[in-house]
Amino acid sequence: MSEETITADETTRRDFIYVATGMLGVVGAAGLAWPFIDQMRPDAAVRAAGQPVDIDISSIEPGAAIIVTWRGKPYFVRRLTEAEIGAVTELPESDLKDPAPAEPRIGGPADEATKDWVVVAANCTHLGCIPKVVDTGADGWNCPCHGSVFDFTGRILRGPAPINLPQPPHVFADASTLTIGTDTV
Ligand code: FES
Repeated sequence: MSEETITADETTRRDFIYVATGMLGVVGAAGLAWPFIDQMRPDAAVRAAGQPVDIDISSIEPGAAIIVTWRGKPYFVRRLTEAEIGAVTELPESDLKDPAPAEPRIGGPADEATKDWVVVAANCTHLGCIPKVVDTGADGWNCPCHGSVFDFTGRILRGPAPINLPQPPHVFADASTLTIGTDTV
């Protein structure tokens, strides 16, 4: 099983841990050494089949994130802080380009242990670049290519991206385990 490639220019945030579980990675930052969480990587047969992947999220603190790949596409898995949850839930839905409530995009349903997690596609819905964390107020991710800004639930706030970052099917088996690729435990 080969290690993934971490290349330059896709992120600058200290609290961002980029993890590639499949395909060639396009993440990382020149001069920065991001922790690499090897146990999150499924085996080749699982990746090839696009089967659900289990991810150990027990070591990720509020305000930190990882990127995982599933079916060859990257996804942000971020644990929100209370301030971030407050900022996104206070945004008036009617002001959004692709109106959607914040709450259903956060955490596991009615599950206190997973109420602060967001899982969204890491490809901008404009032309597919990987946004960077900006973390100022309600702004969560900024796309470096053409300036689209998304909140921390992946809702488009401004810029050319036409729709929110989609969410993959996912479920929290428990407070330490996220499964991407299915919405049933
Ligand atoms: S690809 Fe993100 S704004 Fe164009």
